[in-house]
Amino acid sequence: MQTTAFLVEEPGGDFVLADVELDEPRDDEVLVRVVATGLCHTDLTVPTMLPQEMLPTVVGHEGTGVVERVGAAVTGIEVGDHVVMSFRSCRSCAACRAGDVGYCEQSLLLNYMGMRADGSASMSRQRDDGRRQTVFGNFFGQSSLARHALAYADNCVVVDRSLDLTRLAPFGCGFQTGAGTVLNVLAPEPGDSIVVLGAGAVGLAAVAAARGAGVETVVAVDPLPARRTLAEEYGATALDPGDPGAASLEDRVRELTGGGATYAVDTTAVPEVVLTAQRSLRSRGMLVALGLGAAEYTLDAIDLLQSGKVVRSSVEGDADPLVMVPRLIELREAGRFDVDHLVTTYPFERIADAVADSAAGKVVKPVLVWGE
Ligand SMILES: NC(=O)c1ccc[n+]([C@@H]2O[C@H](COP(=O)([O-])OP(=O)(O)OC[C@H]3O[C@@H](n4cnc5c(N)ncnc54)[C@H](O)[C@@H]3O)[C@@H](O)[C@H]2O)c1
Ligand SMILES: [Zn+2]
Ligand SMILES: [Zn+2]
Repeated sequence: MQTTAFLVEEPGGDFVLADVELDEPRDDEVLVRVVATGLCHTDLTVPTMLPQEMLPTVVGHEGTGVVERVGAAVTGIEVGDHVVMSFRSCRSCAACRAGDVGYCEQSLLLNYMGMRADGSASMSRQRDDGRRQTVFGNFFGQSSLARHALAYADNCVVVDRSLDLTRLAPFGCGFQTGAGTVLNVLAPEPGDSIVVLGAGAVGLAAVAAARGAGVETVVAVDPLPARRTLAEEYGATALDPGDPGAASLEDRVRELTGGGATYAVDTTAVPEVVLTAQRSLRSRGMLVALGLGAAEYTLDAIDLLQSGKVVRSSVEGDADPLVMVPRLIELREAGRFDVDHLVTTYPFERIADAVADSAAGKVVKPVLVWGE
């Protein structure tokens, strides 16, 4: 079928709207008419890392929409269902069977290779010279920066039709990652303390989830005043890392947390910030480094050895989207995961404004709306 998608044609290039041919759904696929697509930082980072041979590509991995067609082998999803799309997993390897679907052995193949697992491309386009060109799609099993997406039973969460799909788009990645890190990886007690470095979409979702779970001491660090204000509205203490008159960041965190935070969550991917996060922990505290961007981090080896600290990362907050997205929607309904106001919607044609506003820190979570 013909549809419209945003292509990236060169590494780090702009999003260019183009007509593309999308395959009809195979037996294990569903065709989704995309209603809204959140922009995650990863959508901007990955195209800068791809070789020219994997371009043009269609990214987008926070799509929501309405199911238009369902492959013969798909169960549990029907035409007309409203879905939140997330990342893919094979559901049969050892990691998947243990419930750790973010660490699926097929993860790279299913989410990042630009085609189906069998090596077939699902998208193409007619070039100006008349020749057909492969378009790399299947990003996170959706490539939802497009009017239509092919998705799978393992990454489609059916949600109640009364819910606003423009608010749910980030539940597929950014919000799930921040909240999942707190609820699944850290599972804090109310008396624990958490410092969140970077109060963007992932960081604020972590703050919201921590406060919703009753954690009293949450510290959020961000250079942007508007983001610190949002963190404060959740009841966090917000710190400006560049505050000229203040003590070092780690000293300030230590003071606010009575000697060091139980947990730290980094969403900046800035090596110095990650090091500060490690040093801000109390003995046997844990840092989860979520950011994508730096090739290497430096850790303080002596501090690590002396204090038994744990430094780890997490794919999507160790969440299984089929479990986590419904759980977060329930928490949202119950007023314990209040994230709707972090979303700013844009008509899809204004993608460049959405990217620019996000880069300038004017909006936390831009969501493109495709309309009818
Ligand atoms: N691990 C995963 O599964 C996963 C999932 C989604 C996103 N990510 C990654 O998480 C990161 C955050 O994503 P996002 O969408 O929230 O991005 P974002 O740009 O909305 O948030 C990053 C925040 O860090 C702040 N920041 C920058 N420099 C800082 C500093 N020196 N000190 C403190 N704060 C600073 C920025 O002001 C911004 O608010 C990205 O790297 C993204 O690729 C990882
Ligand atoms: Zn698997
Ligand atoms: Zn993402």
